[in-house]
This record gives sequence, structure tokens and C-alpha cells, in this order.
Amino acid sequence: AGGGVELKSASWKHGGLFGTYDRAAAQRGLQVYREVCAGCHGLGLVAFRTLADLGFSEEEIKAIAAESEFTDGPDGAGDMFERPGKPFDKFPSPFPNENAARASNGGAYPPDLSLMTKARADGDNYMYSLLTGYADAPADVELASGMSYNAYFPGHQIAMPSPLNDDGVEYSDGTPATVDQMAKDVTVFLAWAAEPKLEQRKSIGLKVILFLLILAGLFYAVKRKIWSDLH
Ligand code: HEM
Repeated sequence: AGGGVELKSASWKHGGLFGTYDRAAAQRGLQVYREVCAGCHGLGLVAFRTLADLGFSEEEIKAIAAESEFTDGPDGAGDMFERPGKPFDKFPSPFPNENAARASNGGAYPPDLSLMTKARADGDNYMYSLLTGYADAPADVELASGMSYNAYFPGHQIAMPSPLNDDGVEYSDGTPATVDQMAKDVTVFLAWAAEPKLEQRKSIGLKVILFLLILAGLFYAVKRKIWSDLH
């Protein structure tokens, strides 16, 4: 991705061999997702209950879930009904189906963001670059109607209007909500959404390598001992 342009790169705390998610950033990113992105994008693979991983309490999770409405049923009389969300529900899509989503977005489809950081090359840096990559179109670029110029979107014309503005959210932890900050925070949140088991994967990988190193040393010592009288 990136339309042949080099992406901006941030130093992600969850990168590298020992990476773990920055919980405070991910919590702020959830706020950005809910207050900004969720107007157009679903997050249909993420259940509210998994927010416990990010440090939310059961009460907080129930309150977050209850702010979405779900159609459920049929009940005993065979009717469908509306109910508030529960921790086992997944973040809903803001549109009933793809056609409705396209109709509201000038024909373009805002994709579900659950796996978005994995769907593009260097996905975390791409997400961060895309969200901070809006600019006035250069004089030689003619924008099609309804499109915005973005330095990092392939082709540079994107149907998503710039979603972030300074102070677009008011962070509950008092962090200044600059575009750069919000872009980084929502990227951490979406990286977690796409790979909630990253920390376990890395920690098991390290233990496996350590084990194999010790085992290799042991095999070498045993081999030396077994063959020691043959020189
Ligand atoms: C596309 C992220 C807010 C409408 C996308 C893409 C990403 C993204 C990663 C895919 C880009 C690609 O295909 O490479 C976000 C994030 C948001 C946000 C993180 C919140 C900070 C919004 C909002 C709207 C919107 C509020 C509607 C007003 C769209 C549309 C597309 C899109 C229509 C398809 C663009 C195209 O194919 O030209 N968004 N988005 N997004 N988004 Fe958003």
C-alpha cells in the first residue's frame, strides 16, 4: 500500500521481539474509534468482552456494549426485537448492509476495520500515515467529485473524507487530542483488534527459542562425551 510513497513510521511499543500493547494508547484509540470511525466503519470480529484485555472492567464493558442496539429474536411469539448490546456481542456495523453503506458514502464502501492493519502491507504504519496523510491536492491533480487527496492512499484519491481534526475527541485521560496523537492511538487499538494474542505469541516464541538453544548446547555436550575416546 501507500501508492508507491514511503510510509511514515512510528515506533510502536508492540513492535519488536518483546513488544506489548500500550494499554493507555489502545484505550484512547477505542475512544477515537467509537466517536469518529464507528460512524462509517464496523468492527465485526471484535466482541465487547475482549476489551477486558485492554484493562476495562466488567462494568465499563457492560456500559460500552449497552450503547449499541441489536436486533435479536425470534421471541416466543416469533417476533424480532431490539435490545441493548451485551458483552458477548460484537461491535456492530453502522449500516445494515453493503449497499446501504455505499449509498451513504458516495458509492464507496467503508471496510470493516477488524483486520485492516493486517490487510495492508506494513499495516500499522500505513494506518498512521493514511490518517495523517490528507492535504490539499497539488495543482496538477484534479480530484474527482467527493474525493479527498491523500498522500498515502494508492492513487491519492480517497472517498473517505479526512476523519480526524485537532480536538475532535476529548480524551478522558487528558492527553491533548492532536491529529497525530489520535491517529497513533486508533492505530494501536486497531492493531490490538487485529491481533489480540500478539503478546502470547511473542512470549511463547521467546521461550521456544531459549529452550532450543539450551537443548542444542546439551546435545553438543553429550555428543562430545560419547565420542570422546575416538581420536
Ligand atoms: C476507507 C480507516 C473514519 C469512510 C478506510 C480505510 C481505512 C480507514 C484504513 C481503507 C483504506 C484502504 O483501502 O487502504 C478509518 C479510521 C477512521 C475512519 C481509522 C477513524 C479515525 C471514517 C469515517 C468515514 C469513513 C468517519 C465516513 C464519513 C470511509 C470510506 C472508505 C474508507 C468511504 C473507502 C475509501 C475508498 O475506497 O476510496 N477508512 N476510517 N471513514 N473510509 Fe474510513
